Amino acid sequence: MTESTKKPVIFSGMQPSGALTLGSFLGALKNWVALSEEYDCYYCIVDLHAITTRQEPADLRRRCLEQIAQYIACGLDPAKNTLFIQSHVPAHSELGWILNCYTMFGELSRMTQFKDKSARNTDNINAGLFTYPALMAADILLYQANLVPVGDDQRQHVELARDIATRFNGVHGDVFTIPEAFIPKTTEGARVMSLADPTRKMSKSEPTGGCVYLMDKPETILKSFKRAVTDSDAEVRYDIKEKPGVSNLMSIYSSTTGKSFETIEAEFAGQGYGAFKEAVGESVIERFRPIREQAEALLQDKTYLTQVYTEAANHAAYTANKTLRKVQKKLGFVAK
Ligand code: TRP
Repeated sequence: MTESTKKPVIFSGMQPSGALTLGSFLGALKNWVALSEEYDCYYCIVDLHAITTRQEPADLRRRCLEQIAQYIACGLDPAKNTLFIQSHVPAHSELGWILNCYTMFGELSRMTQFKDKSARNTDNINAGLFTYPALMAADILLYQANLVPVGDDQRQHVELARDIATRFNGVHGDVFTIPEAFIPKTTEGARVMSLADPTRKMSKSEPTGGCVYLMDKPETILKSFKRAVTDSDAEVRYDIKEKPGVSNLMSIYSSTTGKSFETIEAEFAGQGYGAFKEAVGESVIERFRPIREQAEALLQDKTYLTQVYTEAANHAAYTANKTLRKVQKKLGFVAK
């Protein structure tokens, strides 16, 4: 991407804390692909964020590579998108520290994700988990991002990044672009719920069961859908309150086939859930098949993957360092 193109900038990140799921695909990756033509996109594998909860080193390493391969297989062209690993660009840690000093204890204490995660990991409520949003702000602000496509659960963090940027600019003059969250509509599959508990998000880092993974074999996918929790009447009808399980399956089916809810309701009228669940499973299998096959092939080509993430890190570092140097100068750090 040459600088002269000057498209608006997008930054988003995903933690390599688990294998990518149907939720990651419909909620994030699918939208990322759609944005890559019109924006200058940075998509980051946020390993520094992932270590706020304990990771098995070998798994973390493997998942980072898998994630790059899967991004590409989902349609993110590395020639058009900067697909990089966060720890390869030290400016993230450096600006992260600086922004810690522009983030208030009270603000961090109000983050619902911190409250949730610390309630669930009582044996490891570390400082990184608490200051996570300051690092996330650094990720975004280093690239002067205009838009940040995220799920609804990250809205509060993006709001805080805006507040931090505004505060810093207020003290030091215009340094950071104020970013905006870009949250896709729920009906387009933005929030895929667990198949085991449709009131909870399908989450790669907290497998409560009910997760469908991008790399799952067709038999496994079909089995997961056949087991999906629904309800005791047998009507395929969209009603998020009364029928969260069926509604979730309908959103998934709508995302994979492009069919509207009315069409889906008509298609399965009077058929019960068996045929419906199988159809949803099959649609996901077909959507994932080429992605899985390409990702598997890419993972065999380590030289290519290494080249992709190395070039991307160089490109990202170039942009990030420009912002970091500006910040350091404003703060009064002596130039090297
Ligand atoms: N916190 C995000 C999540 O858990 C991941 C993330 C880290 C991110 N840095 C980011 C998302 C910057 C958008 C922009 O989903």
